Amino acid sequence: MKNLVIWGGKPLRGKVRCDGAKNAALPVLAGALLMDRATIFEVPDLADVGTMVALLRSVGADVRQDHEEITLRCPDTLTHEAPYDLVRMMRASFLVMGPLLVRCGKASIPLPGGCAIGQRPVDLHLKGFEAMGAKISIEKGFVHASAPKLHGAQIYLDVPSVGATENIIMAACLAHGETVIDNAAQEPEVVDLANFLNSAGARIRGAGTSRIRIDGVRHLRGTTYTIIPDRIEAATYLIAGAITQGNVTVDNVIPLHLKSVLAKLQECGFTVTELTKGIEISASCRPKSVSIKTLPYPGFPTDVQAPFVSLLSLGEGTSIISETIFENRFAHAEELRRMGAKIRIEGSNAVIEGVPQLTGATVQATDLRAGAALCLAALAAQGVSYITGLEHLQRGYANLPGKLRTLGARIAVFDETIDQASGFTP
Ligand code: EPZ
Repeated sequence: MKNLVIWGGKPLRGKVRCDGAKNAALPVLAGALLMDRATIFEVPDLADVGTMVALLRSVGADVRQDHEEITLRCPDTLTHEAPYDLVRMMRASFLVMGPLLVRCGKASIPLPGGCAIGQRPVDLHLKGFEAMGAKISIEKGFVHASAPKLHGAQIYLDVPSVGATENIIMAACLAHGETVIDNAAQEPEVVDLANFLNSAGARIRGAGTSRIRIDGVRHLRGTTYTIIPDRIEAATYLIAGAITQGNVTVDNVIPLHLKSVLAKLQECGFTVTELTKGIEISASCRPKSVSIKTLPYPGFPTDVQAPFVSLLSLGEGTSIISETIFENRFAHAEELRRMGAKIRIEGSNAVIEGVPQLTGATVQATDLRAGAALCLAALAAQGVSYITGLEHLQRGYANLPGKLRTLGARIAVFDETIDQASGFTP
């Protein structure tokens, strides 16, 4: 078990570069199963990417990785079954179902199951595949789908699910005829997947809107593609600058992808400047209280909810954050209370009474973004914090300790138990 130790209370200053987006890289890597070969740049060096690479190899793809560059070659025949141990590790593994179903005529994928933030069903993925002609059965925790030839369909998503939109797009690329997805997810990562597939010869229109049309084609050729920057990582480092009342610039970011977050940071009273190649935040006070509701894009992203709870824990006054996407995504509140935060959970709302100071404590990361929230709080807190569960953070933040150190953070990683770390000094 790896742990983080952070000595807080120091304003962060400097510049940090964001990596390629995890939530774009994962569907793009799955989409590479649809074509003969693909070379993808700016793939972030993350545990989740490693899991996806292992999964792609397990179904027969030849995958070569050179730092952030991954080259994939897919044979004509792929294995239609995905191994349980890999799918269990990462929900996004389910994104190989669409490509395998349309290329192999069948697919058997373990149900990804719930996780720390909610049940996370896949009913909308399966609704789409059935509409396109697949026969679906669920036995012993596996989803079995078969369809000698998928055909186009009109599909309405009850919820604008990112994963369901992506899985259906991938299956529809090589299906017979036109597929229309209504109430589709509009996230930038969905657009990135569509752009990647179109660069290989797919015919996808409307990505980024609620109606996406896909005309099936017979074959996708090879392509090279560069992943968009990670907007959630960018938001996390901007909040690191804000919560420590410092001055941080994030490079390799697309401001348009962060409009809702930048607007809320400005509402908090921080100075946010869009530069030619980045975004700068300057903070010299505690945040003003604000109200936030997480929504599908372009609304406020649920993945920035936990980091913002940490920020508003030091706010002037009382803030309310409503989590409308996942049913159990406030696990970080309990841990933040250990640092002196005053947070009350009322249904899907976090009521945050700002305090002038947080105090370092031993806390536990339970998922990726909750872990990020605890790091941010520890950076601002007086004294030392020990954070267990670094493996959660390594799923979504490449070289987090190193990047924070670049900004002046006093942070170290430990393999040992917490009490052995307690003697460590910066
Ligand atoms: C993607 O997850 C992201 N992961 C998540 O990021 C992100 O929080 C989420 O989208 C929402 O933006 C990746 O892209 C790899 P959804 P996904 O399907 O696709 C319900 C992170 O921290 N739903 O849009 O799994 C579901 O229960 C991760 O980087 C159904 O009901 O999210 C949830 O309430 C966490 N039926 C809502 O939709 C379905 O078939 C949104 O889920 C599918 C989803």
